[in-house]
Amino acid sequence: MKALIAYVSYSGNTKEVAEIVEKKLKDEGVTVDNHRIGIDAPIHPECYDYFFIGTFTWEMGKTPDEIKDFVLEVGYKPDNIAVFGTGDTQFGGDELFCKAVDKLWKFYESKWSGLKIEQSPRGSQEQKVESWVEGVLQHAKSFA
Ligand SMILES: Cc1cc2nc3c(=O)[nH]c(=O)nc-3n(C[C@H](O)[C@H](O)[C@H](O)COP(=O)(O)O)c2cc1C
Repeated sequence: MKALIAYVSYSGNTKEVAEIVEKKLKDEGVTVDNHRIGIDAPIHPECYDYFFIGTFTWEMGKTPDEIKDFVLEVGYKPDNIAVFGTGDTQFGGDELFCKAVDKLWKFYESKWSGLKIEQSPRGSQEQKVESWVEGVLQHAKSFA
């Protein structure tokens, strides 16, 4: 099984989540490619069985432009997209918390709940990331 982790991160929180996702996937024997959206060369989506897309949320619940460009670059809606992100409840409370995760999740009709992490995942939220990855992989194994 081959997975792509594609993410955008300015101050490093979403990158940290991506790193935990990567480690967990590799521990479970999944081949992983990383893609820093807006930085790395364009991807070949047809090469991947699973996609993990990570985003932060911006200015009153907005999705970063880099994510919008990536969606257009991929150009279709692959089946197996899991969405994760980081945010901060200080910017508009629960209503706007990780709103970009909700938007992407809806757009891709993702099979899994979107993972929302408050700021850095290091510490108590690390387990939350790992459990979420396990949930995605359970589905993958049941269809193997
Ligand atoms: C100007 C600004 C606006 C923000 N707006 C929101 C928001 O509407 N909702 C939210 O959950 N987080 C919001 N945040 C918090 C970031 O999404 C959060 O810090 C995130 O972890 C940053 O990710 P990164 O470290 O990967 O760049 C905002 C942060 C800044 C600086």
